[in-house]
Amino acid sequence: MSAIRLSEKVYWVGAVDAGVRDFHGYKTPYGTTYNSYLILDEKITLIDFVKEGFTSEHIRNIEEIVPLERLDVLVANHIEPDHSGSLPAVAARAKNAVLLASPNGKKGLEAYYGLTCPIRTVKSGESYATGAYTLMFTHIPMVHWPDSMVTYLAEEGLLFSNDAFGQHIASDKRFVDELGIPFVMDRAKDYYANIVLPFGAQVEKALAALGGLKLSMIAPSHGQIWRSDIPGILEKYARWSGNATDPDLAVIIYDTMWGSTAMMADALRAELEAQGKTVRTYSLKSSHISEVMAGLLEAKHICVGSPTLNRGMMPNVAAFLTYMKGLAPKNRVGMAFGSYGWSGESVSQVESVLRECGFELLPMRRQLYRSQTT
Ligand code: FEO
Repeated sequence: MSAIRLSEKVYWVGAVDAGVRDFHGYKTPYGTTYNSYLILDEKITLIDFVKEGFTSEHIRNIEEIVPLERLDVLVANHIEPDHSGSLPAVAARAKNAVLLASPNGKKGLEAYYGLTCPIRTVKSGESYATGAYTLMFTHIPMVHWPDSMVTYLAEEGLLFSNDAFGQHIASDKRFVDELGIPFVMDRAKDYYANIVLPFGAQVEKALAALGGLKLSMIAPSHGQIWRSDIPGILEKYARWSGNATDPDLAVIIYDTMWGSTAMMADALRAELEAQGKTVRTYSLKSSHISEVMAGLLEAKHICVGSPTLNRGMMPNVAAFLTYMKGLAPKNRVGMAFGSYGWSGESVSQVESVLRECGFELLPMRRQLYRSQTT
């Protein structure tokens, strides 16, 4: 994939990872990109880097426009290896460039890579002139790591937002509207549910800090660039960060041994639908936990079922609950259910995790095989 011109002086020079299917536990059926951007001003600036393994593609794309030795400014918005892997190779050749990062970014880059080149730290709100253009930095800690920041190119209204507003999509198209807003918005939702959800309070602070900016493009570090639906993605982030839920949306997530817990899930679905709710049911035998997270992002009611296996819950259910608890959805109503043949510990164990998640609880439902309810 070659460099792509985004505006008169700005180019995309990142890398496309069409083959990745597991992003630290999150399934990525559409692959991803590691976006990096080049700004041709008096001082030539490179924004962000790519995952190790894609360094050659990154350097090839930069050098379609300019030799690495001519880079004057390197901006590391985020140190996670998907956005910093090519940095040591680029910095080794861009010997005259100043490397800019947040204070936590500096610490992390030195720890990860043992970089010996000087790193200049930038404060939140600080500006840096590159000639006709001005870069402005805003720290957005925990969106997604403590070091994270965004860079705003004031003269173009272009926000290099790093992980924020990203989506895991591999494509030779660069803009959201070229792939269709509904498809990209769904991928942005997957991404939010599996990556950003625990940091709602920090997202709200970031949205407030960026609120006054004129935005003509939001260029994240994964996936497509927003230009025609900026209000739409900002509205979604405001909604998701506030854990806004649909009171009429319920999800049922379960595993089953011999079908009894599946029968309970079916009965529960019918009951909820009779109450007028929309119900999404996920069997953990066939649905990956990251798909389930996207499905429950806006659901008020979360029902989790497991039979008892060896005095505990099914391993698939335990894995899902661990994952969901870490992603910390809030303001939910939970219910545990499950069938058992002997002792039935699983249901109270599921309920215990739902309580730890801070959910309001409805009475648990336990059923001996297919007939008796306790
Ligand atoms: Fe895409 Fe937090 O890295």
